[in-house]
Amino acid sequence: MRVKLKRIVSIANQKGGVGKTTTAINMAAAIATKGHKVLVIDLDPQGNASTGLGISPDNREYTAYDVLVDGIDINKAIIKTHVKNLSLITSNTDLSSADAELMNDKGRLIKLRNAIEKVKEFDYVFIDCPPSLNLLTINAFAASDSVLVPLQSEFYALEGLSQLILTVREVREALGTSLFIDGVVLTMFDKRVKLAQQVEVDVRDNLKDLVYKTIIPRTVRLSEAPSYGETILEYDASGRGAEAYVSLGAEFLIRDKVKQR
Ligand SMILES: Nc1ncnc2c1ncn2[C@@H]1O[C@H](COP(=O)(O)OP(=O)(O)O)[C@@H](O)[C@H]1O
Ligand SMILES: [Mg+2]
Repeated sequence: MRVKLKRIVSIANQKGGVGKTTTAINMAAAIATKGHKVLVIDLDPQGNASTGLGISPDNREYTAYDVLVDGIDINKAIIKTHVKNLSLITSNTDLSSADAELMNDKGRLIKLRNAIEKVKEFDYVFIDCPPSLNLLTINAFAASDSVLVPLQSEFYALEGLSQLILTVREVREALGTSLFIDGVVLTMFDKRVKLAQQVEVDVRDNLKDLVYKTIIPRTVRLSEAPSYGETILEYDASGRGAEAYVSLGAEFLIRDKVKQR
């Protein structure tokens, strides 16, 4: 049997509210449900991925902050979620001071990369990035094989993408890694809105095969699920949101397989 490779993916876009966390949680859950062992790393001080996976702030004993700043063994910070095959490293507001606290640390760009090397048992690691191209996001990029970019289906969807692409290139060159943009996924798509369809055409024209075929629809169910600490596969298993994230997960796995050949 082929030994599975650990694949590390940053879910990033410096814009807030574009669907990063929703995508991280639900795509990870969809892939875990297929039987792959998946780890989500919450790297946003807002801790939305942690909350969305049902881990309240009181239950976050060791967080991403402890791993990055205090250098605790990353394996101590990994907790199991209620979803089979899905584990999590939580975060909380402590993480907002990581940037400043690591300022004089020579290895500050590769804190996460060095830590993740000690993680063994996972097939896929998804890092939910903060809405900024700051030190945390650079750490995520430095640790990752690829970046997945959620784009909100709105007029300014492509704005900011060139800056993100530049940052990916800078990290790749500075650290000698082979980081690449694995894909772009359109989120919060409302097919009744004519503009959304124009945005899709525009994004596909510009980014071609980089754009996932799967589009995530705008549905209130996706925004309700996190307040129950549930993924969409539990909260509304037969709805459009779950269907879309299952499809996105399957598409991700197919792309990944092609790349590993
Ligand atoms: N497809 C969707 N349909 C409806 N609401 C969504 C959808 N995706 C995300 N949301 C909601 O929009 C807000 C921002 O999404 P989130 O995933 O937290 O974005 P980000 O992590 O990029 O800041 C959240 O309240 C979330 O529940
Ligand atoms: Mg988020």
